[in-house]
Amino acid sequence: MIPVFKPSYGQEELDSLKEIFTGGWIGLGPKTKEFEEKFSQYIGTRYAVGLNSGTAALHLALKVADVEGGEVITTPLTFVSTNHAVLYNHAVPVFADIEEDTLNIDVNEIAKLITPKTKAILVVHYGGHPCDMDPILALAAAHNLKVIEDCAHACGSRYKGKRVGGLGAAGCFSFHAVKNLACGEGGMLTINNGDWYKRLNQLRWLGIDKGTWDRSGDGRFYHWYYQVNEVGYKAHLSDIPSALGLVQLKKLEVMNNRRREIVARYNQALVNLPWLQRPVEKDYAYSACHNYVVKVKDRDGFIDYLSGREISTGVHYYPNHLYPVYKPFYRPLPIAERVAQRIVTLPLYPDLSDEQVTYIIETIKSFKPGA
Ligand SMILES: Cc1ncc(COP(=O)(O)O)c(C=O)c1O
Repeated sequence: MIPVFKPSYGQEELDSLKEIFTGGWIGLGPKTKEFEEKFSQYIGTRYAVGLNSGTAALHLALKVADVEGGEVITTPLTFVSTNHAVLYNHAVPVFADIEEDTLNIDVNEIAKLITPKTKAILVVHYGGHPCDMDPILALAAAHNLKVIEDCAHACGSRYKGKRVGGLGAAGCFSFHAVKNLACGEGGMLTINNGDWYKRLNQLRWLGIDKGTWDRSGDGRFYHWYYQVNEVGYKAHLSDIPSALGLVQLKKLEVMNNRRREIVARYNQALVNLPWLQRPVEKDYAYSACHNYVVKVKDRDGFIDYLSGREISTGVHYYPNHLYPVYKPFYRPLPIAERVAQRIVTLPLYPDLSDEQVTYIIETIKSFKPGA
């Protein structure tokens, strides 16, 4: 079976783990620090804070943005982590409809939903395609709102030449097993605000003011004393995933270029199928191509047809405002509700071979949609 996603690991990742296991320090320590420094340099922000998931990054970004008790304008077409993070912060998710072509939150819809209670706009660069950030940032500035970027799909994506994750107040990355940069589990918050940086370093470590490495690492005397300034979380990244992350970061551009090559082949081959719409890439966008999402007629028939021929597919996502847990926040979102019935995610990962891509293309072309 050809999977939808697969991490791209080789000898270098294995070597990095060996180094960690022989080094004697596997918790939050020097590898995480190095990964944070290299990642912030890559994104172009002053700081990066390593966390144990993208979900934690979203949770803590909204916490430092102080959204509690207010409203956060958000997208329905995302993994539930995005919107759960709003609820973790005791804020109200206000769902805005999406653009039919990019599947990203629509700035015109955001504008209609701003109230005196709005605290932040939470955008997801869906599938790696950046949101149209300039109008979103201008709208936010006019209303004094924070913009938080969910970059879980967009590690390496660029908006008008600039890497996403440094465009708003905070960028939230995921290094979950299927992401472009995969560490098994892990996440990163990218920010420029020095006060937020200090607070996040404590928030991720139960509110404690000094990490264990800072108090004892590198053969130093173990200083047991620390202070606890607020109720934080157990949300830090550790040196094992960070060692993998450092290797993956080095390979990221090459891996993303391979993704783009496969996308170019899909786009070229699937051009003349009247029942299938290909994804777009706008002039302002350079996508990290996390997902290849097509819109098709007879979606369920299509999924069954490919699955019967050893090709896995996915659906990203069921619109979040339709889940029972989000019922109190439901509002009709015609575009999201309509397109969600037609979207399918095709296999896309760097190690997909040219032969497999050809097989997937030929199988898709042989499908005849039912009514
Ligand atoms: C859009 C989006 N946001 C947030 C997350 C959460 O990331 P994590 O699984 O690392 O918590 C994911 C993926 O899992 C995601 O796809």
